[in-house]
Amino acid sequence: MITVAGSINMDLVVTTDRTPNKGETLLGRDFQTNPGGKGANQAVAAARLGNTTNMIGHVGKDAFGVSLIENLTQQNVGTEYVKTKDGSSGIATITVAEGDNSIIVIPGANFSWELEEWKQYASIIQKSDVLILQLEIPLNVVEAFANMANKVGTTVILNPAPAQALPATLITLADYLTPNETECKELFGMEAEDAVAQFPNKLIVTEGEKGALYHDGTSLMRIPGFRVKAVDTTGAGDTFNGALASAIAEGLALKEAVSFANAAASLSVQHHGAQKGMPLREAVLERLGELE
Ligand code: RIB
Repeated sequence: MITVAGSINMDLVVTTDRTPNKGETLLGRDFQTNPGGKGANQAVAAARLGNTTNMIGHVGKDAFGVSLIENLTQQNVGTEYVKTKDGSSGIATITVAEGDNSIIVIPGANFSWELEEWKQYASIIQKSDVLILQLEIPLNVVEAFANMANKVGTTVILNPAPAQALPATLITLADYLTPNETECKELFGMEAEDAVAQFPNKLIVTEGEKGALYHDGTSLMRIPGFRVKAVDTTGAGDTFNGALASAIAEGLALKEAVSFANAAASLSVQHHGAQKGMPLREAVLERLGELE
């Protein structure tokens, strides 16, 4: 079983031919409202791959909150631990242009955690094989969850996004850290090749279609990605994390788990929206078959 503690957002997505310059107004091509949030996306990715998956998080007391919970339920993610808090749901404004995206997140309810509220979730965390965390909820809450999971032997995947300085204790508590190249540089102040050598079998740096990088204690491991025509990369990292959790929960070795996650991520970018392109298990296995 996989549990995700993290953010649930509504994504307000604008598609345009190019990213606007400062002070410039552009006519865009399309607007969509899609369920998102790194936490919710990672939960949906894991559930699509056939895992029993639960979400711990908050939505606001607004129309977005209602439809965000509905969406998680439709995607087979357990919402027993999703609370509705006063105020607005988290939202993300996303500009998709030139094959990439830029995102601003307004956390809203994702940041409304009461003192020691996390203690209510001890039992579900204990029952889980893997707990996935990101940084779109308060850092002290992330630390508290990592601590709880660590104590009961639940594997912790920390996706340190959006990047921010991490206390050394949190890095120690995580079994796996999964930044992308930019986040890795921000976190460790060095190139991915050097950073992974400092955290063997723990730091996995995602590099888009190039794949992912980690160090196995002896050598640098570059697990190749899949070259595909990306229409929207939003949620690719989240798909990677959900799929990595799925493979680890199944007991796959790290090399195979990263390869599985790369395949899942490559499928997700072939559709618009963070969650729409997240693949089913069969599609991932088929893509992995293309390697043989
Ligand atoms: O990783 C993509 C996600 O980041 C989006 O769905 C958006 O909500 C932001 O949290």
